[in-house]
Amino acid sequence: MFGEIMPERRMVDDASYPSEWPKKEDHEGHEVRWKDGVSKEYGVHGVAVAVDFDICIADGICISVCPVNVFDKMDIPAEQEKIDKQTPNDSGKTLLDRWKADPMRERDCIFCRACEIQCPVQAIKITEGVGPFA
Ligand code: F3S
Ligand code: F3S
Ligand code: ZN
Repeated sequence: MFGEIMPERRMVDDASYPSEWPKKEDHEGHEVRWKDGVSKEYGVHGVAVAVDFDICIADGICISVCPVNVFDKMDIPAEQEKIDKQTPNDSGKTLLDRWKADPMRERDCIFCRACEIQCPVQAIKITEGVGPFA
């Protein structure tokens, strides 16, 4: 009646990550994790530097502020449809571009947390002592 209401979800608030999120696959040297009932299309890339691709809207501030260049843009052509149709993702906001911030060099993180603090949709959760730091 009012159209589909998209839930607003924030990665940084998820106390169950990473312990209750099973590994789905490896991607270029980092893990992708997936939680049934929460993950929708892409899941979360990275464990210590965890980016929920179902929340990321391609703002890019994380890439700009990271002092050790942890992130690369991962192009996802299928996301163009969401942009064209102005369909919000799990953040409740519409996408700015079709790529996601992929924590390709998660191992280099120095835990400054600038990315986590500045992401406008809180798609990133930083956790010390897990993943490559365990
Ligand atoms: Fe960079 Fe975020 Fe780590 S800004 S250093 S990936 S906490
Ligand atoms: Fe995505 Fe947030 Fe970075 S929207 S590109 S994770 S600042
Ligand atoms: Zn990845």
